[in-house]
Amino acid sequence: MIRTYTNFSLKKHNTFGIEASSKYYFEFTETEDLAVFLATNKQWPNLPILILGEGSNLLFVNDFQGLIINPNIPGISIVHEDRNNVWLEVGAGVVWDDLVEFSVFNKWGGIENLSLIPGKVGAAAVQNIGAYGMEIQHQIESVNGFDLETQTEYTYDAVNCQYAYRDSIFKNQLKNRFVITSVVFKLDKFPEFILNYGDLKTEVEKLGGVNLRNIRQTVIQIRESKLPDPKVTGNAGSFFKNPIVETSLAEQLRNNFPTLPQYPATDGKTKLAAGWLIEQCGWKGFRRGDAGVHEKQALVLVNYGTATGREIYDLSEEIKRSVQEKFGVELEREVNVIGED
Ligand code: FAD
Ligand code: EPU
Repeated sequence: MIRTYTNFSLKKHNTFGIEASSKYYFEFTETEDLAVFLATNKQWPNLPILILGEGSNLLFVNDFQGLIINPNIPGISIVHEDRNNVWLEVGAGVVWDDLVEFSVFNKWGGIENLSLIPGKVGAAAVQNIGAYGMEIQHQIESVNGFDLETQTEYTYDAVNCQYAYRDSIFKNQLKNRFVITSVVFKLDKFPEFILNYGDLKTEVEKLGGVNLRNIRQTVIQIRESKLPDPKVTGNAGSFFKNPIVETSLAEQLRNNFPTLPQYPATDGKTKLAAGWLIEQCGWKGFRRGDAGVHEKQALVLVNYGTATGREIYDLSEEIKRSVQEKFGVELEREVNVIGED
């Protein structure tokens, strides 16, 4: 099935709930639809392109003057199975948390700590979603999609996806060029649980034992207690990434600010808690008009109702400047800003 629209409202297609529109919008449910659409609509090569999932990691600061492509492809199928593992091919349009629920129901492990992350499966492979000690890159086998430049279908094995903390090839060289249509995941029939994040283990044990169902339930409870529900208060999760800095700078910061949470990162570097840095600058719970900083999680910017994308963006820039001034640390956005001039 395909749907095409012009001057399409995006308010229900971004979890910030920002009022914005797209000049052209194309949604499809089968990979073949995309090739047909592109062959018959000759003006698209001259338009800016935005590939859209659920819009839970986007901020529109302007109307989008191009073509939005939404690969709303359904379906979960077993492509291979052996004694220890199962391989699932999952359509880009499947809601991420539906896949987690399905896996936990079938007692397949590997993604349970990623419960309740909003968004679609396609974007999960773009973003390398992570939470509670788990990153999806470790369960991805391959990523299938359609390259708009070469106009061919292609499969990237996980080793070629350049995965890193909230990063991948799809966010860089292939951004808005490679339309992910499905992702193949490898799940474990005898999973090793990852419970070393904060007090996750203690909380899971309180539910009566460590198993996939209890891990999922605990993660959901923790998330619901800290993060705003986008259906109630517009937001896109963490607005910034946790900064990864040279360990020498982290040590210097630790001397001046002994309570700053720090974690080992790759390449001998150190990750800092951006939420802590922002809170120390006095932003937690701040509100100007309808743009604000969540009162329980300073890393999450919120739209209390009718904030514009520009108001939220401007607030984020002020926050960035104040963290730079106080700590000498540069925050990098996790949220994709669309239409920034
Ligand atoms: P979108 O926001 O629509 O798109 C995100 C990016 O991916 C864009 O650059 C887009 O162009 C690209 N894209 C989307 N689909 C495709 C596709 N099929 N092919 C190619 N490119 C595509 N993230 C975490 O990692 N961990 C968390 O714990 C977490 N918690 C969150 C909590 C809340 C309350 C919210 C609102 C967000 C949270 N996020 C978290 C961020 C967000 O849920 C993830 O980034 C998610 O993967 C985005 O999915 P989406 O479908 O909404 O993508
Ligand atoms: N902290 C503060 N003040 C705050 C927020 C956090 O001091 O306002 C401190 C906490 O006390 C804790 C540390 O910062 O010591 C880390 O906080 P938390 O466990 O809440 O996690 P986070 O680093 O703020 C990251 C991810 C989340 C993910 C959680 C759980 C990033 C940018 N964010 O948040 O992902 O759900 O860990 O794993 O890596 C997202 O990407 O959108 C997202 C929500």
